[in-house]
Amino acid sequence: MSEAPSIKVTQLTKVFGKRTVVDRLDLEVFPGELYALLGDNGAGKTTTINMLTTLLKPTSGRFSISGFDGIADPERAKSGFAVVSQEVALYQELTAFENLMFVSRLYGLPKKGAIQRIEQHLRQWDLLSRRDDYVGDFSGGMQRKLSIAGALLRSPRVLFLDEPTVGLDPGSRQHIWEILTGLKHEGVTIFLTTHYLEEAELLADRVGIIVRGKLIAEGTIDDLRGRLNHMKSICVRMARRPDPQELESSLSRLRNFAFGEVSYDELRNTFSIALTSQGHLSETLRAVTDWIETEHIPITGVSTSEPSLEEIYLALSHEPSPPPKIEQSPVAPLSKDGK
Ligand SMILES: Nc1ncnc2c1ncn2[C@@H]1O[C@H](COP(=O)(O)OP(=O)(O)OP(=O)(O)O)[C@@H](O)[C@H]1O
Ligand SMILES: [Mg+2]
Repeated sequence: MSEAPSIKVTQLTKVFGKRTVVDRLDLEVFPGELYALLGDNGAGKTTTINMLTTLLKPTSGRFSISGFDGIADPERAKSGFAVVSQEVALYQELTAFENLMFVSRLYGLPKKGAIQRIEQHLRQWDLLSRRDDYVGDFSGGMQRKLSIAGALLRSPRVLFLDEPTVGLDPGSRQHIWEILTGLKHEGVTIFLTTHYLEEAELLADRVGIIVRGKLIAEGTIDDLRGRLNHMKSICVRMARRPDPQELESSLSRLRNFAFGEVSYDELRNTFSIALTSQGHLSETLRAVTDWIETEHIPITGVSTSEPSLEEIYLALSHEPSPPPKIEQSPVAPLSKDGK
């Protein structure tokens, strides 16, 4: 990407006592991009967000937000971002309206139209009927929604959200997803952490996986999936059971066509092709369909399976270190005669 990053992090490190909690983190997030930082409990996600939002001083390293140096020029760095922290930070003894008015004043938003703007945000989060109720009496999910409304009140260009959908009902979660997608399309840069991998899969342009403070993998979900070819497979369900001789020749012909590990599951009467590390799912699928057509193989269906983000996350974050590098291997031929 040739554009300047909205968030640029270089060798960012935090040490608490003897423990390195964030370890030489390097990352960039570009305008209009949603980056999801994934990691187990205690991996260093909140510590990272706290440093990037200037709440916590890094031990070493640098970062900039919207081009402003977060360490040398924190005030200007702070001017363009908003944050929804993991712990809800609201005044319990103020009403919903008063909390948002406090935020509005804190950020010096125009006084003119402030009431209408706040009411509009409350309406958007289905909280207008609770406008004058004390936040201390709100449920956890309502407080979280109000925190997000407060962060969005200032129309930030960069938005940090630390586990924004914890404790929200499915409708509210969906609502946040829609709002975040809309913001992304308006060019807002979003950096979020989540333990809900379907949320990251749905929203994130890129994800980073942090393990004990180190970023061990990063990329689009497809990039990460590319590292886990052995978890991809194609399944061919046969219409009738092949006789043993037919099975042998089918298997050997399929091995000629397909680029992967071919096996036959007698119980399910299916052939499956597990990709090798250099295989390509779509090309292997094409080879398999060629085999079906040219050999007139009687089938009832073909299916492909790829790891979900959850499976990718578990495989990458729990694999023995060091993690494998993305291989830039040449496209392998599909069949022995180079078809
Ligand atoms: N102020 C602090 N003093 C000492 N250690 C701390 C401090 N804040 C965080 N830590 C430690 O840093 C590590 C990372 O914590 P952090 O809150 O960043 O994790 P996280 O990835 O956000 O986890 P979770 O998913 O549970 O929110 C943990 O081991 C935690 O105990
Ligand atoms: Mg956290």
